[in-house]
Amino acid sequence: MALLEIRDLVVSYGAIKAVKGISFDVDRGELVTLIGANGAGKSTIMKSVSGIVRPQSGTITFDGKPIQGQSSHRIVQMGLCQVPEGRQIFPKMSIQENLDMGAYTRTGAYSQDIEEMYDMFPVLRERRRQMAGTLSGGEQQMLAVARAMMAHPKLLMLDEPSLGLAPLIVQDIFGMLKRIRAAGTTILLVEQNARMALGISDRAYVMETGRIVLTGTGNELLHNDRVIEFFLGGK
Ligand SMILES: Nc1ncnc2c1ncn2[C@@H]1O[C@H](COP(=O)(O)OP(=O)(O)OP(=O)(O)O)[C@@H](O)[C@H]1O
Ligand SMILES: [Mg+2]
Repeated sequence: MALLEIRDLVVSYGAIKAVKGISFDVDRGELVTLIGANGAGKSTIMKSVSGIVRPQSGTITFDGKPIQGQSSHRIVQMGLCQVPEGRQIFPKMSIQENLDMGAYTRTGAYSQDIEEMYDMFPVLRERRRQMAGTLSGGEQQMLAVARAMMAHPKLLMLDEPSLGLAPLIVQDIFGMLKRIRAAGTTILLVEQNARMALGISDRAYVMETGRIVLTGTGNELLHNDRVIEFFLGGK
């Protein structure tokens, strides 16, 4: 059984049907990406999975258990963590305190984990006593990912982690996702940067106005004419 199974998901905001009956899977150990134009419904899917938005119908099964309608707190405890659009770190808290907050579901000691995060992101170690709001956009994104990893998620979900970042920083972020995936964490990613996202994805789903219209391996989609035309800036 897949780690995450979504079946016939429908989500509406009042009269607007944002997700119109979507089904897909994320298997254990995979990095799966959702790509699609603005307003396609990508963030709505992420929010439904993490319990922020309540679906109208359909099922979401995580690690063998139905989670639709569960509280987001309970869903985090089950091992599903989301880095939302726009990062949302705690700007007035230190970097160290942000990482402590990420470990709030943990019961045992976690200082070793903080050291591992600092090894992965040395800039966070150097500045661990400073307020997180003083970090650059890319560094805040790294902190948001490190904070989510402190919960030891079975599934890490990221909504547009490269948004607004300079190309070199974007490369760092994608390099980091590759390392997290290689270390065994399953990832569901939403990205506008289709070329880089497909380059690191095992599989991807292409969305158009609330529906999945295309699926394949990252490599297959990188060579798909429709993807090239709409998401990779043509030939
Ligand atoms: N809180 C809300 N109230 C009403 N409509 C909403 C709300 N949130 C999203 N929508 C609408 O639902 C649709 C899907 O939005 P969603 O944010 O899921 O798209 P997206 O694929 O993440 O887009 P983007 O790439 O711009 O982030 C859009 O038409 C959007 O305007
Ligand atoms: Mg979005």
